[in-house]
Amino acid sequence: MFDYGDSLLSIGMVLVAPPHRRRGLARAVMDRCLSMAGRRPSTLIATPVGEPLYVGLGFVEVGRVVRMSVESAAAGADGAAAGKRLPSIAGNDARAVEQLDHEAYGANRSALLRSLLARAAATSVVRDARGGVRAFGIAMRQRDQLVVGPLIARDASEALALFRSLAGGYAGAVRIDVPTMQEAFLSALAGLGLTPGGQSAPIMLLGAAGLPGRREQIHAIASRGFG
Ligand SMILES: CC(C)(COP(=O)(O)OP(=O)(O)OC[C@H]1O[C@@H](n2cnc3c(N)ncnc32)[C@H](O)[C@@H]1OP(=O)(O)O)[C@@H](O)C(=O)NCCC(=O)NCCS
Repeated sequence: MFDYGDSLLSIGMVLVAPPHRRRGLARAVMDRCLSMAGRRPSTLIATPVGEPLYVGLGFVEVGRVVRMSVESAAAGADGAAAGKRLPSIAGNDARAVEQLDHEAYGANRSALLRSLLARAAATSVVRDARGGVRAFGIAMRQRDQLVVGPLIARDASEALALFRSLAGGYAGAVRIDVPTMQEAFLSALAGLGLTPGGQSAPIMLLGAAGLPGRREQIHAIASRGFG
């Protein structure tokens, strides 16, 4: 369980070892999590095999995310490589980054952000005329793959600039999980040679009519596990 304050918590990485499946273990774990959640809205991103369990617990689909990837950001037509490097997130940007994230997610993810920033392979910001942070992105390395997200931006072109800054020239595979509502950003990524991997995954919610925050600003999530 990832505790994002009073407005939201996220449940991730529900795993039962294959020999022990279909004995009610995942349901028991979820019941325990939900009783700890109390009346707080709970969200998760389901796998196909997990979805029936969550539907049975009352979760409803409120959106979807699709995984886009490319074998090498340095290759391809125009290639993500052509991206201009934006400035990195500076130490004194931390509060502004947390505020932007809070506005987009409607929840306090500062502990998660601190942990992501401490392990980031690359970070980028778009600044406004007065030098404030108006958009940001973080990329992490997972083995030899670069995982881009979160990306919080006002529009698709800002998100694309962040993506190119973070992934441009990276010689290995690049992956990004994008909410399907971001149609303009998804077609821009397709234009860079990224392709969708399989079915999109449902974002599910229990305990509220909708997710908090200004979700239209979320152009990529950090990971399905974090919600
Ligand atoms: C999804 C997962 C956690 C379920 O664990 P589990 O302990 O087998 O689940 P439970 O026995 O508690 O099942 C509870 C209910 O969920 C549903 N369910 C669970 N597995 C299912 C499956 N393979 N197909 C259809 N329904 C399923 C059923 O309604 C089930 O109740 P029933 O057995 O009385 O019919 C397990 O299959 C797993 O670890 N999968 C791989 C990782 C993964 O995808 N995790 C989900 C991340 S979101």
